[in-house]
Amino acid sequence: MDSQTKPALIIRPAGESDAPAMGRLMVETFLRAHKGQIPQGAWQRRQQEWTWEISAAGWSRTLREIADGSSPKDCIYLAVDNEVRGEEKIAGLIMGGPAEVGPWTNAGEILALYVSHAFHRRGLGRRLIQAAVRHLRGADMDRLVIRCLAANEPANRFYEALGGKIVGQQEADEYGFPILEQIYGWDDSSLLLGDGGK
Ligand SMILES: CC(C)(COP(=O)(O)OP(=O)(O)OC[C@H]1O[C@@H](n2cnc3c(N)ncnc32)[C@H](O)[C@@H]1OP(=O)(O)O)[C@@H](O)C(=O)NCCC(=O)NCCS
Repeated sequence: MDSQTKPALIIRPAGESDAPAMGRLMVETFLRAHKGQIPQGAWQRRQQEWTWEISAAGWSRTLREIADGSSPKDCIYLAVDNEVRGEEKIAGLIMGGPAEVGPWTNAGEILALYVSHAFHRRGLGRRLIQAAVRHLRGADMDRLVIRCLAANEPANRFYEALGGKIVGQQEADEYGFPILEQIYGWDDSSLLLGDGGK
């Protein structure tokens, strides 16, 4: 199949065999993105203690719970680069589920969104959110919230570009250091789909 018939960057659900690559992407992208956005002491603890393997074990557990039906409302999607023939490279990941914060009932939440820096500004963040929103709406969660570090200006700009409004803020804890989070919300998440909510 040539590149005209096989799109290089696709979005697909994650499976348990993806966990090792997800752990690597998550740890690398988190540390790079949040350096300078969280207190230095918290960032160093993450760097020292949070290995790819630890993150992968967490993803593996979560993916198993989705597969065996114990977390039916959660979803995990990947952005995958198929450009190199016969090889898949995971370029981004998203996890969605029932909201744990925010002003609304029947809301879904984006619980993790990480796109590898080499793939930024190619529309993958938007496409991953759309995939998660379709799943959440299918599970009767028509509103959406996302927690984001107040200091994470690129991500704040991204959520604002997608029409998100600040609907709350809270102080969270990272290794004993306080961090300020903004809660972005969409009162009607179909606006993110740009296709009338289908
Ligand atoms: C935030 C993030 C998910 C955005 O993903 P992305 O694939 O680069 O975003 P997209 O290409 O889909 O961007 C869609 C639109 O959002 C806006 N946008 C995205 N990144 C932006 C930035 N750094 N500055 C300003 N606007 C931005 C733009 O309007 C963009 O459209 P355009 O490129 O046509 O101008 C990505 O930067 C990321 O993973 N960052 C590191 C981890 C992180 O901070 N995650 C969020 C945790 S809450």
